[in-house]
Amino acid sequence: MNRNGKGDVIIALDFPTAQETYDFLARFQDEKPFVKIGMELFYAQGPQIVRDIKARGHKIFLDLKLHDIPNTVKRAMQVLSALDVDMVNLHAAGTIEMMKAALTGLTRPDGSRPLLIAVTQLTSTSEERMQKELLINAGMAETVAAYAKNAQAAGLDGVVCSPLEAAPVKAACGQDFRTVTPGIRFADAADDDQSRVMTPEKAKTAGCDWIVVGRPITRAEDPVAAYRRCVREFLG
Ligand code: C5P
Repeated sequence: MNRNGKGDVIIALDFPTAQETYDFLARFQDEKPFVKIGMELFYAQGPQIVRDIKARGHKIFLDLKLHDIPNTVKRAMQVLSALDVDMVNLHAAGTIEMMKAALTGLTRPDGSRPLLIAVTQLTSTSEERMQKELLINAGMAETVAAYAKNAQAAGLDGVVCSPLEAAPVKAACGQDFRTVTPGIRFADAADDDQSRVMTPEKAKTAGCDWIVVGRPITRAEDPVAAYRRCVREFLG
């Protein structure tokens, strides 16, 4: 948790190359934002990009969304743990057994480990598709809350969900169970391809612990000013 115990703003580094990523980070002279490295950058650049960004002093959320048999996920988490990141994630759909195995793999010999967060249902999945294609008969909110409870039972720290689901997750799992929420937009901005969005200011009171913000910062004319505005609205 950050200085005032309210979480933090995480910038999604959705860039295709290391150079673009470093050019972007070089703009930040006075602060070291918490950043998210996703599949695109990690698969293109390999683990060295994680080490490089860590060495520059940033906290890192490694967003690789693991989902496989328990033993494979456990061993993969062991590898990620050695990268010294601050937060990693997996799919809650892998079952409680898989999440427990992940936690074991992630825990270092000294007992320390990155935060482990579960994806419940992707925000790109509509309730209709979930019911028709995944054959989940329950509603979206009920499904997300049930997956969050599974993650909590496995000993995880929290879930990724839309800001609109943060309150139901807190109601199901308690205030100490963390929420990481993408889908953040400034009040005066376009939604891009996100459909369930919230402003940083509203996210503050909606039960969001960490907000993940990509394009509103990375594509802003002045990314540092946009980041500061986000921090001011969310943490201020
Ligand atoms: O640009 P934008 O603010 O929409 O970026 C949000 C980030 O959060 C992207 O990296 C996106 O992949 C990620 N994300 C999301 N919805 C999820 C999980 C991750 O938007 N359910």
